[in-house]
Amino acid sequence: MNQVNGLHVDGELIDVPNFEAMLNPHPLYAELAAMGPVVRLRTHLGVEVYGITQWDTAIAVLRDARFSKSSINMQEALKKSGLSGPGSGFPISGAKSGNLLNTDPPDHTRLRNLVNMAFSPRRIELLRLRVEALVDDLLSRLVGREDADMIGEFAYPIGITMICELLGVPDDSRSNFRDWATKAMSPGHADQQQSLNLLMQYLADLIAAKRKLVDDGAAPDAQPDVLSAMIAARLTNDALTEDELVSMSYLMLIAGHETTVGLIGNALLQFMQHPEQMTRLAGQPDLIKQAIEEVLRYDGPVHRTTMRATAEDVDIGGLTIPRGSFVQVLIAGCNRDAVRFPDPDRFDISRKPSQNLAFGYGAHFCLGLHLARLEAQTGITRALKAHPEMRLACSPEDIPWARTVIRAPARLPVRFGR
Ligand code: HEM
Repeated sequence: MNQVNGLHVDGELIDVPNFEAMLNPHPLYAELAAMGPVVRLRTHLGVEVYGITQWDTAIAVLRDARFSKSSINMQEALKKSGLSGPGSGFPISGAKSGNLLNTDPPDHTRLRNLVNMAFSPRRIELLRLRVEALVDDLLSRLVGREDADMIGEFAYPIGITMICELLGVPDDSRSNFRDWATKAMSPGHADQQQSLNLLMQYLADLIAAKRKLVDDGAAPDAQPDVLSAMIAARLTNDALTEDELVSMSYLMLIAGHETTVGLIGNALLQFMQHPEQMTRLAGQPDLIKQAIEEVLRYDGPVHRTTMRATAEDVDIGGLTIPRGSFVQVLIAGCNRDAVRFPDPDRFDISRKPSQNLAFGYGAHFCLGLHLARLEAQTGITRALKAHPEMRLACSPEDIPWARTVIRAPARLPVRFGR
């Protein structure tokens, strides 16, 4: 067994640590990319995965239907890997019934068409005033304070409030989510399965209550939230089964808050660590859109796509990936591919806008990207305007990172004032 930059290389398999690798992941991604566009990894769960390390190959994989998400192909790969349960290591697709992340077309297209409208740029733009008011309210609570936790007191309430309001999840139950969601997204956590079950049960009950309102003939616009719209669609054209409804709600709730919390947290962190970029943004507030794109590229919260499984043997990147193999794109590594992004390890908000992979690519391209961008652009603009002197209250090595599949600080202690 060889040792390469802290990686154990056993024959052709490279052992990739899970959480530890997320603390300082970029030397690892660079090392993997130097080995080739497709590398054979063994994840912390002991599962063999073909990792995609370079931009061009990532695009080719994500637009190729032979890299499948359907349960038939995933089951075959699971069987081959000797795992019986959902061992993807990426629990947001771990629900048993159909949702966007565990189906291929035509099922995927049917499910996606049901929710696409609710997340379209036009519909999300209608939320701008609400997001601004929420951000201002959170910032007003920090007035006169000397320090704060910008995750617990800022990023998290923005992420959870917006996705819950959009889906129609009532206020009183939100306090349980953080605990359930964090554990459900922590591979190997003792309470992972139980937290997943609690969240699923909560959503099933909520949907039953909303369905009763719809069945009792409540006017559709009396409760114009996404869950009610999906329930109504189920009634009119049988578009969704009951289990699909719960599974879809689960996916949107989970994918829709931890990720944006991570984006806002990582953005604040990067600006505090690059004060010259913060000054630049203060001088040119119009740069905010591309500044958030640069945060997504340089330190996005989602480091790997969910798993695909090959539906047949596929020749790619100089090798043949056999049918029934797991494949995962290493997004954060591809976002620093020097062929596409010159000087990729430099955080530079004036970098020419060019699409990055933070939101994925192809059929499973992120549903919630417009919402995520609106929250992050508004949150960062207003937070940095209110607190241009914000700085880390601990050394960067002491930042407590969330032990989930999302790269995000669990807490972000900052100090205000000079
Ligand atoms: C898919 C990233 C916010 C809902 C994805 C994928 C990525 C991603 C990389 C593709 C996964 C794959 O191909 O395996 C992010 C990031 C976010 C974010 C970085 C925030 C910064 C959101 C929000 C929602 C959301 C706010 C709200 C609903 C989804 C859904 C999918 C998805 C439902 C699956 C789409 C499909 O399979 O058709 N996201 N996401 N995401 N995201 Fe996001």
